[in-house]
Parts: sequence; C-alpha cells; structure tokens
Amino acid sequence: MDLKMTVAGVTFKNPLLAASANHVRGIENTQRVVRSGVGGVVCKSVTELEGLRKSENARFAILDEYHRPCQGKIPRMYTFYSRTGSMEHPDDWLRDLPLKLKLAQEHNVVFIGSIAAGKPESWIAIARMMADNGVPMIELNLGCPHYEKVAEGMGALLGQNPEACSRVITAVRSVVKIPVIVKLTPQVADLMTIVKMVQEAGADAITVSNRFLGFAVDIENGRPYTGSMAGVGGPWIKPLTQRWVAQCYLGSPLPILGSNGAADWSDVIEFMMAGASLIQMAGAFMLEGPRLIPKILEGIEAFMKRKGYGSVNEIIGMAARAAIPYTELHRLPVQRMRLDRGVCTRCGNCLGACYYGALHQKGDEVIVGESCVGCELCLAFCPTPGALTPEAID
Ligand SMILES: Cc1cc2nc3c(=O)[nH]c(=O)nc-3n(C[C@H](O)[C@H](O)[C@H](O)COP(=O)(O)O)c2cc1C
Ligand code: SF4
Ligand code: SF4
Repeated sequence: MDLKMTVAGVTFKNPLLAASANHVRGIENTQRVVRSGVGGVVCKSVTELEGLRKSENARFAILDEYHRPCQGKIPRMYTFYSRTGSMEHPDDWLRDLPLKLKLAQEHNVVFIGSIAAGKPESWIAIARMMADNGVPMIELNLGCPHYEKVAEGMGALLGQNPEACSRVITAVRSVVKIPVIVKLTPQVADLMTIVKMVQEAGADAITVSNRFLGFAVDIENGRPYTGSMAGVGGPWIKPLTQRWVAQCYLGSPLPILGSNGAADWSDVIEFMMAGASLIQMAGAFMLEGPRLIPKILEGIEAFMKRKGYGSVNEIIGMAARAAIPYTELHRLPVQRMRLDRGVCTRCGNCLGACYYGALHQKGDEVIVGESCVGCELCLAFCPTPGALTPEAID
C-alpha cells in the first residue's frame, strides 16, 4: 500500500504528523514521538516571548460529551481543553536540535520547526536559525488561540489580520529557502482572503488549522475549567475544521496539512477526503501515546484495501469535489422515503419522527404518506438497515 506523500517537494513516508504541542517538547518527548511511526514531527513552537514559555502554568481539562470532567474513561467525542504557553526558548531548542535531527533521520521522519514569535525581527531570527542548522521545513504558527495577554504580533490575533500575516511570511521568505508552511487560525469570518495573502507572500503550504478559543464552564465550582478561556477542540470539532479544509482545497492551489480533530484512522480519511494531504495530531497523541500511530496506519491500510484504493493520493479532496454549491442545491432530484415492508420490523420507532406528517400506522404496518419530502430525518430513528431508503422521484 502506498502511503507516501510529497508536499512542497518534501516526501513523507506516511501522511501522519505529530502536531506542534507538549508531546513534542524537549528531547525525551521528541524521541517517543519520532519512534511511533509518524511520517513527520512539527516541534513545539519556539518563541522569544518569555510569557509563553512558562510550563508550570499548563492546565488541561479533558471533558466528556456533557462537558463534565472525564474520570477514568475518555469517550470517543471528548473535549480537550487546554491552556499551556509552554513554548521553547530558541537557545534551549537549538542545543537539542542536532540530536533531534539525527533521530528523525534514523527513522525517516521529516522534522519541521515551528515558530510563534512576537516581534518581526524575532520571526526572521528564529527562521534563519532553523534553516541555517539543517531544519528541512518550517511552520509559522499564526493561529495560537491566545487572547488578550499576548503580544498583538503573534497567535490568532496576528493570523486574523491578512496584512500582518503577509508581512511575517514575506519577511521569513526573504531569509530562508526551505519550504514554509503557514498554520492558520480557524477563528475568522473570511479565511480565503487570508489564504490568498498567505499564498501571494510566498507560503508553500498551509496548516488548517490551529484550535478555537473556547470557554468551558465547571458548574460545580462556578468557574471556567483551567481558570481561563483556553484552546478547545477534540474529535467533535471536525466538521468546523473540515469545512475550512474543503474550502481551502477548492479555492487555493496550496497543499493542505489538516489539523484539529483527528483522533482515529477514519478521522484521518475524512481530513484527506476533505482536501488535506498530511494530517497533524496533537490531542489524541497526548491522550493515547505512541501506540496511536500504528493503530491509525493499520486502519488506513485496511480501509484502502477494502475500498480498492492503491494510494492515499487517490482520496485527497474527493469529498470536497463532490460538494454541491449551496446555490445549486435546488437542482438536486426530489426524493421520497421508501419503506420496505419485507425488512421493516414494525417497531414503530420512526413514527414520531416526521415533521411533515408523512409517517402513519395502518393496522400493524408503518406507511410513508404523500407529504413525505425526503428529508431523511426518520433514518436516524430506524434501527433496521434497509427498512427506509431515500429514492429520487424525478
Ligand atoms: C496542549 C497543546 C499545546 C499546543 N501547542 C501548540 C504550539 O506550541 N504550536 C502550535 O502551532 N500549535 C499548538 N497546539 C495546536 C496543535 O498543534 C493542533 O493544531 C491542535 O491541537 C489541533 O489538533 P488536534 O485536534 O489533533 O489536537 C497545541 C495544542 C495543544 C492541545
Ligand atoms: S423522509 Fe422526512 S418527510 Fe419523509 S417520512 Fe421521513 S421524516 Fe418524513
Ligand atoms: S423504525 Fe424502521 S423498522 Fe421500525 S417501524 Fe420504522 S421503518 Fe420499520
């Protein structure tokens, strides 16, 4: 099975990357991640801003589907709520770099440097330091979900300003020749204007996206979890991220690194079908550890085999291309729900489901009446596969 992927001229042995976060901070964590089987590692962001390097301030709250703290069991749709600011100092980072690069090379893993600087001159200095010391690719983090406490020149505040993004990228582009990835914030009204500026400023690829800024309330204590507004995400956030991934895939020629919500192999396939060539993972990796990666790779291979795909390249953007523009929806064929009496068990579960008054009971049978508009809501109530099937009627 061909899992190889080339982005901006750099080839990855598979499309799974460890995203920039605490699991890739420092040498021991990097070792664990590199050995997990990932195709690439984006290091924890490097910054000159002292306030963002305080590891002792890190707080995590892992919440269940009701936004209550998980106790012993993490559900599939968890929320990862975190406030960290434990970025790396350029000098510490540089000290460990030769060891990290050697490790990455031994395991055929692409090592990507991540920058989240404040001042324009620091973006340039850190980028130059990375490129001059053998880093093959860098990611500019323009999407950290920080709010008022950080310099205007960094994080989502910077990523929300197309001209400011452009200035940073142009400056970095002028001092390094290696490929530059720009990591975007999802928290904007019009991402495509930013993506256009990012492309014109010379980016080679985009990461879509960093996390949203959230506010999660602990009702027992009447306070926000982690004591603050914080980065929020988890697998449930996929449709919001994938909307941007698909829009960027359709509206920009830049290759996409998908991030924000992937936790298992099927999530990775979703991101690829939405348009991402590579997938970055942070939260799930931090919760499950390195065993996550072989599990995901096995899942992807099994899926591709079952569906008859020979290479991951075949599936990239397939769902984005299939999306019907909103203005064209009226051209869709009209449909009605067909009920197969031979399959229906007459359990009655669907009877209260129809807002169009189309589902009735006649004797012991359920019938679909003329007022059915084919909205498919009743499908969610039916436990019997094949009992209800939408059918085009023109
Ligand atoms: C604890 C934590 C720390 C993070 N630190 C960084 C960072 O330093 N730089 C960065 O670009 N993104 C950072 N991120 C964002 C992740 O790289 C990733 O884009 C995001 O978590 C979404 O992916 P996920 O759903 O796999 O967690 C961090 C995320 C978490 C959870
Ligand atoms: S498809 Fe919609 S309109 Fe038709 S029966 Fe089901 S719920 Fe009612
Ligand atoms: S829920 Fe499904 S199986 Fe049950 S009555 Fe309705 S169509 Fe039949």
